[in-house]
Amino acid sequence: MKIPRLLQAVGVIVGIYAGFVLVFDYLLGQVIPSSLLSMYMFFVIAGVFMVYTFTEESARELVAPIKALVEDPSKKRIRNVVFILIPLLVAGFTYQRMSPSFEAPVELRSIHPAPPATVKAYGKRYDLATLKNPFRKYEKAKPEKFRELVREGGDIYIQNCQYCHGDKLDGRGPYAAGLNPTPLNFQDVGTIAQLQESFLFWRIATGGPGLPKEAAPWISSMPVWQDFLTEEEIWKVILFLYDYTGRRPRSWEHE
Ligand code: HEC
Repeated sequence: MKIPRLLQAVGVIVGIYAGFVLVFDYLLGQVIPSSLLSMYMFFVIAGVFMVYTFTEESARELVAPIKALVEDPSKKRIRNVVFILIPLLVAGFTYQRMSPSFEAPVELRSIHPAPPATVKAYGKRYDLATLKNPFRKYEKAKPEKFRELVREGGDIYIQNCQYCHGDKLDGRGPYAAGLNPTPLNFQDVGTIAQLQESFLFWRIATGGPGLPKEAAPWISSMPVWQDFLTEEEIWKVILFLYDYTGRRPRSWEHE
């Protein structure tokens, strides 16, 4: 039996849609963003119609069932059902789309804004591309001294940072619940493991007010630590953040 071309076309489109959803959601465990999916499906539908209407004859064959439904006197009953059903479906879909949502509006903001090339802190200018943690070298050269520096960094953290970022560095300090944006969770792979130590130095020294404009509309409560800590103290607390979480800072060099 020959499958009508209209049904074939619909079958191909539905099949590709199901394929996308199945492969992404179930096999890869990644949800495909709906805007991306609609873009893919737009091209799929356009492509399918291009193929199915390639010749005049195939185009005629494609619309034949629709034409018959509208014109054929013997299909009166189905026609009436379809013509009532379609407006009802569209109305239902529209109603569902228009019903108010009580969720907070999405605020798009960049969590890790691109750092400026140079930053100002402690009255000096630093070049972020070359800025290094002066204590990192002891990790291999003088392990005992390094442990001591990490311990000092831990003390600085507990005295200053844990109120917000938490004593387990998971962003759940006692003040965290009252803050929006929330203090960052350093245990998360998306935070310090993705960053260079110089980026952290910049963020800690200049805090929320040091964020560039593209990070707006932020009202970050992250304090400006250059007003309270010395440069060395900031570098030590950075050592502690990586040591405690067991993560490595991102770097350009291969280690
Ligand atoms: C008053 C609460 C508060 C305290 C205290 C605080 N922070 Fe934060 N911190 C935040 C908030 C909120 C953010 C997220 C918003 C932002 O990035 O500015 C943040 C972000 C950061 C970031 C950016 C991480 C990233 O992935 O971009 C670093 C690094 C950081 N804090 C380190 C520290 C250190 C180190 C201390 C202690 C010296 C500290 N913070 C103390 C609230 C706080």
